[in-house]
Amino acid sequence: MNDSDLVLSDVHVRCTEKPNERGVAVTRFVAKIIEESDDDAGIDEDGDTIVKRRQRGEGIPLVIEHAMATRLKDVGQQVWNGALLMADFILSNKDLFIGTCAIELGAGTGLTSLVLSRYADLVFCTDVGDGVLSCCQRNVERNIGEIDAGIIQVRALNWADPDAPEGSPSSFGWTAADIDRLEDLDVIVAADVIYNDYFTEMFVNKVRSLMLRYRKCKRCYVALEKRYNFTISKLDTVAPAFDYFKHCLDDLHGNDDTFVIERLPIGFSSMFAYERSHDMELWCVYRNESEGVDSRREVSDV
Ligand SMILES: C[S@@+](CC[C@H](N)C(=O)[O-])C[C@H]1O[C@@H](n2cnc3c(N)ncnc32)[C@H](O)[C@@H]1O
Repeated sequence: MNDSDLVLSDVHVRCTEKPNERGVAVTRFVAKIIEESDDDAGIDEDGDTIVKRRQRGEGIPLVIEHAMATRLKDVGQQVWNGALLMADFILSNKDLFIGTCAIELGAGTGLTSLVLSRYADLVFCTDVGDGVLSCCQRNVERNIGEIDAGIIQVRALNWADPDAPEGSPSSFGWTAADIDRLEDLDVIVAADVIYNDYFTEMFVNKVRSLMLRYRKCKRCYVALEKRYNFTISKLDTVAPAFDYFKHCLDDLHGNDDTFVIERLPIGFSSMFAYERSHDMELWCVYRNESEGVDSRREVSDV
């Protein structure tokens, strides 16, 4: 694929809103809140608990401005399946996020950060480039009412910058107060940022440096969609961007058990409308402070 080719996210394929003359559309994404309970749920023939799912009347409506088809450099202006998978994970596991100071890397339109802001005390919603950051800021403003405006701070954070985040007076720059508040960073999230090996390496390095710099931060969740190609040389389909991510995770894990890598099950409820395919995965990087744990786990019940 060339940098000038247009790409369209699956999320927008069924989009019925007409884009304006600049190719920008505004779509309402509604999360239907589904409660899970195992009361009287019983056991299925394989011995697994049957999860009862009940939809609550209320939903979370989010109004998101996004582009329809973009060049690769502007993919952050579309909503990707990973954002919806991560949003579902947060809605289904709110205890992991309540009261936290969180940062989202490569936030794009900001949909995941908007969901996260329902539970976190503070969300730094970060990306790179004024185009995507301005779109994200407008989405924060569009959804005031659903969210408390002060909770989300849209900020520039380029994974290529080894010193980021640091104080800067530029647009979407970090204030001294932001830098102080980052000392309380608890959790990192990122969705659909695994598609280019060069970016992937910078991304994993940034995760490593944030988790080493902010000692309270012990978890980073990454949602991704594997993208397959057919290669003549291997006469097989391969997912090279995902394979490279796994290679970077192996490096991060290294030999000293500082980082524990785990693939998480994605059987939680789908609250947003999208196709959750087998090619979607959720990974967690934990910073480990105890030694001697089984530090490379991949769950199979996904
Ligand atoms: C495919 S989009 C995903 C956007 C959003 N998370 C979602 O799932 O809808 C990838 C995002 O990574 C961001 N990104 C790419 N390289 C980056 C870098 N060096 N530093 C920060 N963000 C970067 C892009 O700007 C874009 O917003």
